[in-house]
Amino acid sequence: MFEIIAVIAGYILKATWLMLPAYIANPTAVVFGGGTPIDFGKNWKDGRRIFGDGKTFRGLIGGTICGIIIGLIQMQVPPQFSLGAFTFSAIVALSFGALLGDVIKSFFKRRLGLERGAKFLLVDQLDFVAGAWVLAYIVEPKWFTDNFTFGIIITVIILTPILHRLTNIIGYYIKLKKEPW
Ligand code: CTP
Ligand code: MG
Repeated sequence: MFEIIAVIAGYILKATWLMLPAYIANPTAVVFGGGTPIDFGKNWKDGRRIFGDGKTFRGLIGGTICGIIIGLIQMQVPPQFSLGAFTFSAIVALSFGALLGDVIKSFFKRRLGLERGAKFLLVDQLDFVAGAWVLAYIVEPKWFTDNFTFGIIITVIILTPILHRLTNIIGYYIKLKKEPW
């Protein structure tokens, strides 16, 4: 029993460590967000917004920079204490990819006729994971496949919606987010 708990805890720690730049980029986009929307307020052919007012340059850039800062701090951790090595390209890809995934998600939400802030179960929770992984795989394929083993991928997919829910509930109560999701 103890061994099983130790193995699961190990997976959770490693998954969190590897995803940290993306896990930081996503909520800090909410903190720094506001101002000019990425679609400049323009509509798509269907008459609905391209991305909507919830996707701004400030959020995209502020969140990416915060994710990169965390990654740079993680890169300073000595190997004997580190849960996995990063490259600079990998941390940029994880941070920017996370927020790119979030923007692309909003594009599809608008095409489905969902208003800004509408709930989109699991997609709202995993959009940024998909974006981070796709960009990291494109930029650093060997780093990605060496670190994101099958077990780590499964752990991230289970862990992320739980962490996402918790941070959004906190964000809602400290009045950073309009909806608790
Ligand atoms: N935000 C931002 N820029 C981004 C991402 C997020 O400014 N690139 C800010 C916006 O203020 C946004 C808030 O963070 O309203 C919450 O982000 P999110 O839940 O991703 O956006 P929603 O408002 O729910 O919009 P959507 O329905 O398009 O997901
Ligand atoms: Mg939302």
